[in-house]
Amino acid sequence: MPVSVMSVFGTRPEAIKMLPLAKRIAATRGLAGKIVLTAQHREMLDQVMAVFGAAADYDLNLMRPGQTLSSITADVITGFTEILTRDRPDLVLVHGDTTTSFAAALAAFYQQIPVGHVEAGLRTHNLYSPFSEEANRSLTARLATLHFAPTARSVQNLARENVTAHVHQTGNTVIDAFATTMREGYRFKSGQLRGIDLSAGRTILLTAHRRENLGKHLRQIFRAVLEIANRFPDIQIIYPVHKNPAVMEPARELLGAHPRIHLIDPVDVEDLHNLLGRIDLVLTDSGGLQEEAPALGKPVLVLRTETERPEAVEAGVVRVAGVDTADIIKAAHLLLTDNAAYLQMSRALNPYGDGHASERICNAILEFFNAR
Ligand code: UD1
Ligand code: UDP
Repeated sequence: MPVSVMSVFGTRPEAIKMLPLAKRIAATRGLAGKIVLTAQHREMLDQVMAVFGAAADYDLNLMRPGQTLSSITADVITGFTEILTRDRPDLVLVHGDTTTSFAAALAAFYQQIPVGHVEAGLRTHNLYSPFSEEANRSLTARLATLHFAPTARSVQNLARENVTAHVHQTGNTVIDAFATTMREGYRFKSGQLRGIDLSAGRTILLTAHRRENLGKHLRQIFRAVLEIANRFPDIQIIYPVHKNPAVMEPARELLGAHPRIHLIDPVDVEDLHNLLGRIDLVLTDSGGLQEEAPALGKPVLVLRTETERPEAVEAGVVRVAGVDTADIIKAAHLLLTDNAAYLQMSRALNPYGDGHASERICNAILEFFNAR
């Protein structure tokens, strides 16, 4: 009998990083995979499923307007427990640091089903930032049996918490995703993207959505973005705006009227990765983009006060710019006016993996179950 592995996820970034693995599980002799969606996100999750041509075995369809951390947690535990009692797998795989990940790991733990944690061991060591992700990933580490850590640094972080058994350094599956998404001569699907002339000058890709940035920080970030657009007439800024109303409303209010700031709908990951290959600079508070952009040699200014991804900062391609308007303007101004500083940050570099993380994870799962 093959080892049955149930991958459970609910948001866009989890799907981008779990679907290459689900694909690999399906192709691995000795493993049988199923996909469970909590649908903590809906449209943004479905976009990724379509790119990977993936179908869910179960879909809890949980997203509600105005959902809270507590309501998502409660709904995931209840809904996923029902699935686990009906269709008990040998292993549950969760990813990273979302509410879905932690709540699904807890539900599996209550059923005494082992949990494998993909993208384990990232830490800021500040429980409130990112909120609530730092807590989610730390708590998931306590519940998991298998730990798939992307880098040497994440292995060390786990060791500091006395998590040393069944820890595997695998690289990050986000790099595996490029094999599905990146193509030469790619034509964007999004009509909004096709309408932007990328050859007109330099282009900045902006994304911002983190909970701890909602409100004051987001407005500070947007004021900086406005000033950067005004200071540099050759620059266009593309901002695929997160579907969270707490992001969409201030984005429209502060940035909506500028002719060179393009607020567009979230694009699918195929469009996004190929766009990333064609722009000059990334301003973001996203986690995934801090891993993808260095692989493509694109400098990143992080719109946060710290990062759990220090590998690319140490390598010099990611810089933490903070959330103050003046700090962000200063960091961007330097890169946009000093070519040497820009080139120094534009080296293509891959601290997050070689595109074979999924394969290593499948091998580690087989090894674990064979050994038992
Ligand atoms: C969550 C994750 C965060 C991840 C982010 C990715 C937690 C604690 N946070 O953020 O780690 O970086 O997702 O984007 O789990 N919405 C839609 N359609 C969608 C997606 C979202 O309408 O397809 C709207 C809904 O109104 C929803 C809101 O966005 O209520 C916020 O979504 P939610 O998953 O709660 O976002 P975060 O918790 O901020
Ligand atoms: N992304 C995407 N479409 C967009 C914006 C981002 O596919 O319009 C991808 C991006 O390439 C990265 C991931 O979504 O892989 C990041 O997701 P998000 O910013 O929602 O979450 P985080 O990485 O911060 O957890």
